[in-house]
Amino acid sequence: MMRVIRFGIIGCGLMGREFASAAARWMHLTDMKARPEIVAVCDTNAALMDWYSDHLPSVAQKTADYRELLANPEIAAIYCAVPHVLHADMYPEIIASGKALLGEKPFGMDRAQNATIMAALKEGPGQLVRCSSEMPFYPGAQRVIDFIKSGALGDILEVECAFLHSSDINPDKVINWKRMVDVNGAYGCMGDLGMHVCHVPLRMGWRPKTVNANLVKRVTTRPDGKGGRVPCETWDNATITGMVGEGPDAFPLVLKTWRIAPGESNTWSIRVLGMRGSAEFSTKNPRQWRFMRYEPGGAQAWQVEDLGYQSLFPAITGGIFEFGFADAIQQMWAAFVDELVGGDANGFHCATPDEAAAHHAILTAALISGVEGRVTEVEYPQ
Ligand SMILES: NC(=O)c1ccc[n+]([C@@H]2O[C@H](COP(=O)([O-])OP(=O)(O)OC[C@H]3O[C@@H](n4cnc5c(N)ncnc54)[C@H](O)[C@@H]3O)[C@@H](O)[C@H]2O)c1
Repeated sequence: MMRVIRFGIIGCGLMGREFASAAARWMHLTDMKARPEIVAVCDTNAALMDWYSDHLPSVAQKTADYRELLANPEIAAIYCAVPHVLHADMYPEIIASGKALLGEKPFGMDRAQNATIMAALKEGPGQLVRCSSEMPFYPGAQRVIDFIKSGALGDILEVECAFLHSSDINPDKVINWKRMVDVNGAYGCMGDLGMHVCHVPLRMGWRPKTVNANLVKRVTTRPDGKGGRVPCETWDNATITGMVGEGPDAFPLVLKTWRIAPGESNTWSIRVLGMRGSAEFSTKNPRQWRFMRYEPGGAQAWQVEDLGYQSLFPAITGGIFEFGFADAIQQMWAAFVDELVGGDANGFHCATPDEAAAHHAILTAALISGVEGRVTEVEYPQ
């Protein structure tokens, strides 16, 4: 019998719906020990909750007060997808309730708020807590990760991870909370996209000791949706570089979080270059990864392999078919649910709170670097 894990969702916006959809087609996955069942939803915008109760007969509780979900003994786990400034208000209470938590990134709006969450974890009962980051669950990303782990790179020349968006190139795009410093945080584009680009490097143990960040601010006002324009103060683009390791083996890590990357709708990519092997994957070509194995004096020839749907968690879709964003979300949820019932997430678990805290250390140093124009030391939590 497949176990059932009862979930409550706090924040019924864009990402809440993605989880609901992934859970509703759980039969897509062929080999799961447990399945999520969404029994409660919470949002301060009451209109959003009807979509959930209309589509999911299992939803028995709808409330604007998240504490009512935490008091519901039926619920074993929470997905929390609310604006950044609320993470540090809610995650500590969720942790104290003893319910498992998949919290959206960036796990606190800034480093101080992340520290509040990390302190709550130290005090907490020790249940499973993870941070959302789905892009590394693309099969092509998994191949690059396996390639790195196999040692195929040899001496590393450079690693680049990027997340590129472009909708903000339109100066007439109405402002939303992601462009407001007091709700999204002073990191701007880095808080929005930073966890996505830090997840794999941190999992590989690559921690830059110092960073240099170039921050770009192009669109300074935006429509307020009511006929006027308001200041838009968050950073649009960040290019962060840091050296990983020391001495002759050190290599540059380049992290790009751009909200204004012309033509890129939602491109996540990773490229690793080494003396013996190189590999890359981009969601622009979701079916393919590219790699090169090099022997001294031999040919330097990239190979391109169509992977299709060769997912970390097996699914009904044939391996030749394309994999997409909604699939990456479902694979991330499979990893979380598998860990909830004692599994090892098939070798690639969701981002951990420690990884989220380390990414805050990088982003905080990057913000100082970008604003003050100097190379800045990254102070990782002990
Ligand atoms: N993993 C990803 O790829 C990804 C993508 C987008 C956003 N996110 C993250 O998801 C989170 C939410 O972003 P989103 O795009 O879904 O935003 P959204 O604005 O679509 O949804 C947030 C929801 O939270 C609700 N909310 C606000 N205050 C609340 C409160 N006190 N109690 C209950 N609900 C409240 C809002 O009404 C809204 O419906 C953020 O942390 C963001 O960084 C992750």
